[in-house]
Amino acid sequence: MRHLLSTHDLSRGAAIQILDTAEEMAAVTEREVKKLPALRGRTVVNLFFEDSTRTRISFEAAAKRLSADVINFAAKGSSVSKGESLKDTAQTLEAMSADAVVIRHGSSGAPQRLADSGWIDAAVINAGDGTHEHPTQALLDAFTMRRHWSALRGIGSTGSDIAGLRIAIAGDVLHSRVARSNVWLLHTLGAEVTLVAPPTLLPLGVETWPCRVSYHLDETLEAGVDAVMMLRVQGERMHAAFFPSEREYSRRWGFDDARLARLDALGLKDTIIMHPGPMNRGLEISSAAADSPRSTVLEQVRNGVSVRMAALYLLLSGGLGDHPPADSGRTQDNSNRREADS
Ligand code: NCD
Repeated sequence: MRHLLSTHDLSRGAAIQILDTAEEMAAVTEREVKKLPALRGRTVVNLFFEDSTRTRISFEAAAKRLSADVINFAAKGSSVSKGESLKDTAQTLEAMSADAVVIRHGSSGAPQRLADSGWIDAAVINAGDGTHEHPTQALLDAFTMRRHWSALRGIGSTGSDIAGLRIAIAGDVLHSRVARSNVWLLHTLGAEVTLVAPPTLLPLGVETWPCRVSYHLDETLEAGVDAVMMLRVQGERMHAAFFPSEREYSRRWGFDDARLARLDALGLKDTIIMHPGPMNRGLEISSAAADSPRSTVLEQVRNGVSVRMAALYLLLSGGLGDHPPADSGRTQDNSNRREADS
């Protein structure tokens, strides 16, 4: 694979290859000297047409830890605000010999356009396009889940899997590229996904996605979940009223203090609470939930660097998807699980 544009098209082998490589990268980030020479002399451009804190910093840290040169380009304050097109911007980057372009754009499909255009030669990584996809976020979420469950089973996470885990993704699914990328990836990895949202915040055609759909967060929790991923209410993409009031939203679909206590009452002692950030505290998630020991919010941010190092490294070394660890991974995992269970 030359580009990382979506998880929809990512094979199980390539996904596991990224997760396993990210484990190796995590070992580097835990060292005192957090740097590898792997991408010395290569140039990574962060091309951000939309606001970002975590993702941009994370890609920058990832590229620098691999010794690449990094150019950060934010659309605000650039010639884009003077009306320069994506094509002209891309060709400017090409003239600077970019090896990889990490792009975040408000329009769904912009990274694909860049990859297909022939305007540039670089590898393209989608860092979030409109409401479409955010593949590295889903990969870092899967990495976080995999680490959590392998630690619980007392096995190493490399090669282990998350098949059969019950994941609820709750909130503003309609506007969420994180939800979409997670549904495809988690399905590929064999997890069972339930989307939980008010009907107004579910996209048309959701019934064709490989997941269940529920309108009731409490029922979903009661059925048993291993992870609850809360989505940000994306006010900036809402041009109409999608729910009666913030109070009503947080009461029905927010992960509030009562639901946090409910996990204990339901005996779900290992269930984790995830959020990609930025959080609207008090709306989709309460502070007590966000800061509780169940929360993986900061772990997700930390893991993001390792996963992005893996993606950059594999794409720029030309190895992504070429030598997938085959399906032996699954066989091995199941035997691991049986061992851990017995
Ligand atoms: C997400 C995004 O930008 O899509 N955030 C992120 O990348 N950490 C989710 C969001 O903005 O709600």
